[in-house]
Amino acid sequence: MEDSIVVLEHVKKYFDIRDSDGKKGTLRAVDDVSFAIKKGETFGLVGESGCGKSTLGKTLLNLSPITDGTIHIEGKDVSQLKGRSEKVQFGSKVQLVFQDPSACLNPRNKIGTILAEPFKIHFKKTMNKQEMEQKIDELLTMVGLAPEYKHRYPHEMSGGQKQRIGIARALALNPDIIICDEPVSALDVSIQAQVINLLEELQEKLDLTYLFISHDLGVVYHMCDRIAVMYLGNIVELADKKALYEETLHPYTQALISAAPSIDQVKKERIVLKGDVPSPSDPPKGCKFHTRCPYTMDICKKEKPLLEEVKDNHYVACHLCKQRN
Ligand SMILES: Nc1ncnc2c1ncn2[C@@H]1O[C@H](COP(=O)(O)OP(=O)(O)OP(=O)(O)O)[C@@H](O)[C@H]1O
Ligand code: SF4
Ligand SMILES: [Mg+2]
Repeated sequence: MEDSIVVLEHVKKYFDIRDSDGKKGTLRAVDDVSFAIKKGETFGLVGESGCGKSTLGKTLLNLSPITDGTIHIEGKDVSQLKGRSEKVQFGSKVQLVFQDPSACLNPRNKIGTILAEPFKIHFKKTMNKQEMEQKIDELLTMVGLAPEYKHRYPHEMSGGQKQRIGIARALALNPDIIICDEPVSALDVSIQAQVINLLEELQEKLDLTYLFISHDLGVVYHMCDRIAVMYLGNIVELADKKALYEETLHPYTQALISAAPSIDQVKKERIVLKGDVPSPSDPPKGCKFHTRCPYTMDICKKEKPLLEEVKDNHYVACHLCKQRN
């Protein structure tokens, strides 16, 4: 797709694991995922805990090889990057904002030192101390903090302020794509709105593309242009946000939306899913959702439904939805 900045094709990320008896196994965290993100859009990824959202997001950072498939970023196959310098240079295009900013802010360092790190790694020989200080001041101002915050330690800041530092650090190297992995989940509701507004302002100003990961459908609905719903390592539905909410096709998406009343102006009946999410190390055959789906048919237990376009730009992986449309 011409206007796509990220293209994933049949991406798999499996982990080698051992069970309680020490027996070896394979955990299929991401199990054949394909989609494309358009330049400048906010692409949402939702699904229950453990369905593979963070693992999928991290594949774009190219830190460890994927098990199968290809990832193109700005037209370049990231598996073909050669040498450390090419990887580091290309790596700066994609940055990550975490759920818990404290986890990525060294408590022993002042904010100024933390924000200087990316410049020291990338521009050690070309940027002098004064230029670095100026860059740090600019970054702090950009995320709505006064430059004097560079003299503070992380523990001297609130959760919302720490998340602003996490965002400033992600912006330091002028990235094109930011993976926002549950960026507001750890914050108070009142602070969540401020950080979301900041992310929206920065996107506009800096022409950023976001992969926005969250289990909170209300936040995803507010932020995103298109949304992909993930279940046990697969995308089961993908559509523009309006179509996803107003013409929901997949039974799993229907259940997720029915459990998020904040978005639903017209109150829909709550669909309570039976059973727990199966283990990604031993997923059900056929449709992985068949053990919990209220509409399971014989074919669902045997054949895995592929993600196919059933309406304009509305994709779904479900035998029943394909029969109906
Ligand atoms: N390094 C790893 N080694 C083994 N298993 C892993 C590893 N990283 C993740 N997993 C497993 O992969 C699956 C997907 O994990 P992931 O963190 O991507 O889920 P998630 O959708 O982001 O969940 P949450 O909403 O709780 O953040 C889980 O079963 C997890 O235990
Ligand atoms: S394929 Fe079958 S089991 Fe899977 S979601 Fe559709 S109807 Fe339910
Ligand atoms: Mg996660």
